[in-house]
Amino acid sequence: MDFSFFSKYYMFFLIGTKNTVLLSICSVFIGVILGLFISLMKLSKSKVLNIISSVYIEILRGTPILVQLFIVYYGLPTLGIELPTFAAGIMALSINSSAYVAEIVRAGIQAVDKGQMEAARSLGMSSNMAMRYIIIPQGLKNILPALGNEFIVLIKESSIVMMVGIPDVMYNTNIVRGNTFQPFEPLIVAAIIYFILTFTLSKFMNKIERGMAVSD
Ligand code: ARG
Repeated sequence: MDFSFFSKYYMFFLIGTKNTVLLSICSVFIGVILGLFISLMKLSKSKVLNIISSVYIEILRGTPILVQLFIVYYGLPTLGIELPTFAAGIMALSINSSAYVAEIVRAGIQAVDKGQMEAARSLGMSSNMAMRYIIIPQGLKNILPALGNEFIVLIKESSIVMMVGIPDVMYNTNIVRGNTFQPFEPLIVAAIIYFILTFTLSKFMNKIERGMAVSD
């Protein structure tokens, strides 16, 4: 194996990493906000909102993210909605992620023992107060680690955006493969970059999780 290409091409990997990180951060951020709304719809008592949110979640989780990306990037322009490439990538990733986040939030809230709500209500709290001071703080303990996980998943899934020409780690790796005529080694570099990103993040999440466990 010959990694001597690295000194000449490291900028490709650096820029790719920057774009991958940027893309993932924007996508989790928007995905979490969207997902929160969807989970509220799913948790609400309104049948209509329940159905809308369920359909949204099932369709997004039941179709490949590549198809969703292509629909956003190639499909929307025919409807007159033309997005810059990077924005299309963020949109596809964040919409996809929102469906998963919605389920994470719903499951996290519903996992709080229902005795907690009953106890809060019997102490005279309104159900909104109980939600705010009792249920949500406890639900957060279930939700936060899973959201960290979603971030890790997105870093890896974001490699799909190379298909529409966003210069992320994977796209730039392919450029290096082509330029150097080395089909293999650049991929090892890409794998190492992704691994460093996800491993660091997962160690960081473990730390936060342990911190939260202390208060139990
Ligand atoms: N690989 C899956 C697909 O092609 C996407 C999974 C996305 N997962 C997530 N937690 N955002 O559909």
